[in-house]
Amino acid sequence: MNTSSKKVISVGLLGCGTVGASFFKLTEDSKIQILKTAGAELKIVKVAVKDKNKPRSVYISPELICDDPMEVVNDDSIDVVVECIGGINPALELISAALDNGKSVVSANKELLARYWNHLHDKAAAGKVQLFCEAAVGGAIPVVRALEVSLAGEQISRVTGILNGTTNYILTKMSEEGLAYEDALREAQEMGFAEADPTADVGGHDAASKLAILSSVAFHSEVRADDVFCEGIENVTAADMDFAKRSGYTVKLLAVAQTLGQGAEDSSLGDSGQKIAVRVYPAMVPLTHPLASVRLSFNACFLEGAASGELMLYGRGAGGFPTASAILGDVMTAVSYSSPGTASNSLKRADIYPVGGLENKYCISLYVSDESGVLAKVAEVFAKNKVSIRSMEQMGMFSEARLVFITHMAKEDDMQRTLAELASLACVEKVGSFLRVYGDE
Ligand code: NDP
Ligand code: HSE
Repeated sequence: MNTSSKKVISVGLLGCGTVGASFFKLTEDSKIQILKTAGAELKIVKVAVKDKNKPRSVYISPELICDDPMEVVNDDSIDVVVECIGGINPALELISAALDNGKSVVSANKELLARYWNHLHDKAAAGKVQLFCEAAVGGAIPVVRALEVSLAGEQISRVTGILNGTTNYILTKMSEEGLAYEDALREAQEMGFAEADPTADVGGHDAASKLAILSSVAFHSEVRADDVFCEGIENVTAADMDFAKRSGYTVKLLAVAQTLGQGAEDSSLGDSGQKIAVRVYPAMVPLTHPLASVRLSFNACFLEGAASGELMLYGRGAGGFPTASAILGDVMTAVSYSSPGTASNSLKRADIYPVGGLENKYCISLYVSDESGVLAKVAEVFAKNKVSIRSMEQMGMFSEARLVFITHMAKEDDMQRTLAELASLACVEKVGSFLRVYGDE
């Protein structure tokens, strides 16, 4: 796409929900700024939705609206297609067709990008067009571009993110205001943070897709959502929050990707010597760590590079306008390029390190029966599986007794075996919660 001589850049918009409508409004409101920066006018010339008769949060002239998205991707007058529909189908078919038709594409669709990165980037490269996805990760935070451009020469060793606004909002409200999980989720939905199906948020899958995209960009090899070990926040309780607070921690849904480099004495490292470990789970984060201060729908990416050291990018991770801001930035970048750049590279498949081999500290709570010798039986299971206990606290008495353990560093596989054996002990009524402890190793 060469738009350098054009005075009007035509944009086709797929979807006009929370994000699409905000993008439409932001483009209208930013006309002067866009003209100044791009030297051209951005005009949204067609908007495809599912239901033409649905009331919209922005006024859109009826002649722009259609309910056949193929009309947008096949429209010869359109230079850039912005996809804000979400999900795999029909987004995959629509973006593919747009790229095949020589249009650059900007998408906020992490689910799709985390599954079809190479497929779509190969199409973009073949058509000499651009595919951008800044809005798919971290809302307004320019983390994809920071990794692709500013940190292009940096050897990133670990990326730790709070990448889901809905879950961060829920955990903040539970921790700070004692709100019930369901009420906090409802608020997040009302504010437009949650996915159409919020189980993608609370189950960690949305963060897993974002982590896959970030890992692909940071480590220059294709990581897919399916590669990411994933646990959600559904089992995090008010008691966990309370214990964390009293122990100097807060609970966050973390997305962590790291390289396990050459020279490590580990037979699971392949010939190339580099594997990538990727996981999403609720974790206890020390209150002194910068990620602990990330509240509500805000997101952050904490990056560790060989030369850069630690740096953190922080901002609004969800919501219409923050996401629209990232989309607009991508559209402006797309219209300034005439050939594929770094954003259009397809990548070799990543070598994934099994999470079972990673080491962590853990926090485990157990509901136990009121009988003598319970502690000894429980401690024996930990010891047998090579998991050393750092501290233990008993909360409640008699039939209400709840034991909370924090371990020293232990292998995930050993910890999982410990959990399974603890659950099968007659004196353990229930394994309560299980959290990794992050950042104070
Ligand atoms: P919404 O559900 O609010 O909007 C989806 C839009 O797509 C609606 O306008 C809907 O039409 C339209 N649509 C659905 N199916 C079709 C179809 N077959 N043809 C044409 N249009 C269709 O979603 P969001 O705006 O929240 O999210 C959009 C994308 O942005 C998703 O990929 C999401 O993951 C991502 N995202 C969302 C963020 C957020 O904070 N909400 C933040 C970052 C990314 P209709 O209005 O008629 O129903
Ligand atoms: N549902 C997502 C979230 C939207 O809550 O973070 C932003 O990607």
